Amino acid sequence: MTVSRTFSIIKPDATRRNLTGAIDAMLEEAGLRIVAQKRLRLTRAQAEEFYAVHKARPFFADLVAFMTSGPVVVQVLEGEDAVARNRAVMGATDPAKAEPGTIRKRFGESIEANSVHGSDSPETAAAEIAFFFTPAEITG
Ligand code: CMP
Repeated sequence: MTVSRTFSIIKPDATRRNLTGAIDAMLEEAGLRIVAQKRLRLTRAQAEEFYAVHKARPFFADLVAFMTSGPVVVQVLEGEDAVARNRAVMGATDPAKAEPGTIRKRFGESIEANSVHGSDSPETAAAEIAFFFTPAEITG
């Protein structure tokens, strides 16, 4: 058994609808442990840096505007194959294409307002965790 970590964001569309607890419960039911969590408002600079890989995409400006439109909850999740496990419970990026029982199918409003972000690889997870958390803030 390999316990690993991934990074998650509960996005502004979900915090606005008071869904933090419901999403946390789905993560926990999927076998993930929330080992760090904080609510904050991203600055424009933070959102641009966090999503820098998408800078050339046509949706980049809208994505930054959306992610700074309200509070987010940033999280570190721990579990067996945490990246894959979290991606499975999140569902497809486009909520219309997400499987039943996933967070995005249940709560996502659109491809942009899709309620959660999750790291796409263990390497990305390590970088995204370090972007928001110091090691002392993470307690398994
Ligand atoms: P996320 O996992 O946070 O990573 C980048 C985000 O860009 C993605 O989820 C979507 O919410 C958002 N996005 C907006 N439009 C698109 C699009 N056309 N294709 C992919 N992602 C998009």
